[in-house]
Amino acid sequence: MNFQGQHLLSARTLSKEAIERILEVAKEMEPYAQKEEASDLLKGKVLATLFFEPSTRTRFSFETAMLRLGGSVISNYTMNESSSIKKRESLYDTGKTVSQFADVIAMRHPVEGAVKELAEGSEVPVLNGGDGGANHPTQGLLDIYTIHKKFGHFGGLTYGLVGDMKNSRVAHSQCRLIKNFGPAEARPKFICVAPQGLELPEDLKKELTDSGCEIRETTDLEEVIGGFDVLSNTRIQEERFENAEAFEKYRGVYSITPKLLEGAKEEMIILDPLPRVDDQLKVAVDDDPRAKYFEQIGNGVAVRMALLALVLGKI
Ligand code: CP
Repeated sequence: MNFQGQHLLSARTLSKEAIERILEVAKEMEPYAQKEEASDLLKGKVLATLFFEPSTRTRFSFETAMLRLGGSVISNYTMNESSSIKKRESLYDTGKTVSQFADVIAMRHPVEGAVKELAEGSEVPVLNGGDGGANHPTQGLLDIYTIHKKFGHFGGLTYGLVGDMKNSRVAHSQCRLIKNFGPAEARPKFICVAPQGLELPEDLKKELTDSGCEIRETTDLEEVIGGFDVLSNTRIQEERFENAEAFEKYRGVYSITPKLLEGAKEEMIILDPLPRVDDQLKVAVDDDPRAKYFEQIGNGVAVRMALLALVLGKI
């Protein structure tokens, strides 16, 4: 398995062995991610972050990962307005151009397939920081890294995926990354809790069942929360709806509250890629020892350090 020079465009392309290796390297990166030790592993290397869609966590954690490993960052977070894309330059040419400056690119775009288009022009590795509703592989990796830190394995666990299962690129990436773990008789079990109309896409359900995973679907979170080992919450993805009216009927449909959590296992962990809006996750839950969503953000630095080091051939 050789990561050097490779793009990471989707969770689909990562084998079980590749995922295990990334998690292993992320663990080695912890002292640098946790600010305990300094490193110049990526000294002289340049990361370009090209963001066509807003971000707080993904962009900053990619940039932090590069800077804490001794590298440098060039960044544009308003690509649509302030890059030559505005003058109708293609994504392919943008990839070709930016790769003359940078050694690695991290990119986010609202349209599925756009990161691939840029990667086709790029002469350096491109890491997908989220495109459309389908892919957010680095987020999925940091989520499962957080799960692995708690349980040490993925098989045999019950994952409660709550929220917008149709449009959540995070939920899609998480499922794809863990579907092949565990022995055949104890593959991950997914309980998908989504309002009607926002269910997990059929092709993804088939992928999961073909891998031996069990899937249950429901709209009733209270009824099923007691069975979860992992509660993976996601907001309703407002930006993926055609118009405000279409979104409004789903606003605030699920809310994780201290009262709701009284029915959950003591050992369950709560993940959420955030941002937090519309009471999807009450601030009062932050004090619950099961809440791991801020630790999850921190884990993103170690995982992105691992990816940068691997694709740059430094590990
Ligand atoms: N989790 C995540 O993708 O957050 P941002 O949109 O802030 O990057």
